Amino acid sequence: MHTPLTIDDLKTHARKRVPKMFFEYADSGSWTESTYRANEEDFAKIKLRQRVMVDIAERSLASEMVGQAVSMPVALAPTGMAGMQYPDGEMLAAQAAEEFGVPFTLSTVSICSIEDVAEATEKPFWFQLYINRDRDFALNLIDRAKAASCSALVLTLDLQIMGQRHKDIRNGLSAPPRFTLDHIIQMARCPTWCFKMLGTHRRTFGNIVGHARGVNDLEALASWTSDTLDPTLSWEDIEWVKKHWGGKLILKGILDEEDARMAVRTGADAIVVSNHGGRQLDGAPSSISMLPRIVDTVGDKIEVHVDGGIRSGQDVLKALCLGATGTYVGRPFLYGLGAAGKRGVVQALEIIRRELDTTMALCGEQELRNLSLKNLINF
Ligand SMILES: Cc1cc2nc3c(=O)[nH]c(=O)nc-3n(C[C@H](O)[C@H](O)[C@H](O)COP(=O)(O)O)c2cc1C
Repeated sequence: MHTPLTIDDLKTHARKRVPKMFFEYADSGSWTESTYRANEEDFAKIKLRQRVMVDIAERSLASEMVGQAVSMPVALAPTGMAGMQYPDGEMLAAQAAEEFGVPFTLSTVSICSIEDVAEATEKPFWFQLYINRDRDFALNLIDRAKAASCSALVLTLDLQIMGQRHKDIRNGLSAPPRFTLDHIIQMARCPTWCFKMLGTHRRTFGNIVGHARGVNDLEALASWTSDTLDPTLSWEDIEWVKKHWGGKLILKGILDEEDARMAVRTGADAIVVSNHGGRQLDGAPSSISMLPRIVDTVGDKIEVHVDGGIRSGQDVLKALCLGATGTYVGRPFLYGLGAAGKRGVVQALEIIRRELDTTMALCGEQELRNLSLKNLINF
């Protein structure tokens, strides 16, 4: 593999190495994928203000997210089934993030469990929670996240029902894969993936199987997953989570000013302006286009983070100029993971770090906290 220079290079490598159903699970959005595309396209429309003859010798990307020191404000977003992009994927990505000094967020629907990731790392990671009908199971997850010393809980609000991704249905996506002819052909095209996958026992949803009531095998898991999403969730439920969790709380999936106001009232520590990477409400605006008005609405009453469509350090810088204090990347790290495991995730983070640093310098700034609308053209 040539040294990847861009996130797109990692995507090209991942496409070759990961069975089609899992690669497309990552590289897809709901229905027409218009929001998925808009997330990336809207970043490209924002233009940077070039400055010269400013001393930019001493630069730093160090920052904080929810009071925790980060080497740059770019967390790894929670992504389901990362352990299908690469065997033991969540453990490896968490190690890469730890070495890099950025937060790793483990999804509820991960392949490696909370305990697996805790065992593989030394510093605290973040845990993402879906609250579902089975509140005992949500409590079980909260307790396990506490026992693993997770330092923030990311509560995802935008998945009360599932958006539909046509690619997943056409591919007959399942974890582990079924031994249909199509799946066998897909896997046969990725011998290294198959070989490494045989070397791990982590091939299904590690946080759920054996923990949720009555879910001890895969068949039970399938019906549990479809029955368990809770369409009745409301703002009151956040109080319930806060009471049981008691630590830093981040509300993910805010895309509307009114919802941002409600989020502030919950007393949470941060919101993530997000449309779930274009995987839920197709036709919703891009996250970056909604960021400025949400920042205006909440002022400094709550930390504002953003995700969706970030594919470079330049995109991170644009988000910071528009008022975010933290960002997350989903697919960029999954492509790195699929391309080369832990090394690929480190490469993804390095690419973003280099681009962020050089862009900040060419904009005439030495520190991220000095970035603002003044660094953009036409804002
Ligand atoms: C393959 C995949 C799986 C995801 N799974 C979850 C999840 O389990 N929980 C969650 O809150 N968000 C999930 N997301 C959304 C991400 O956390 C994040 O919002 C999104 O990926 C950001 O967009 P980006 O991929 O363009 O960076 C997932 C995204 C992808 C691509």
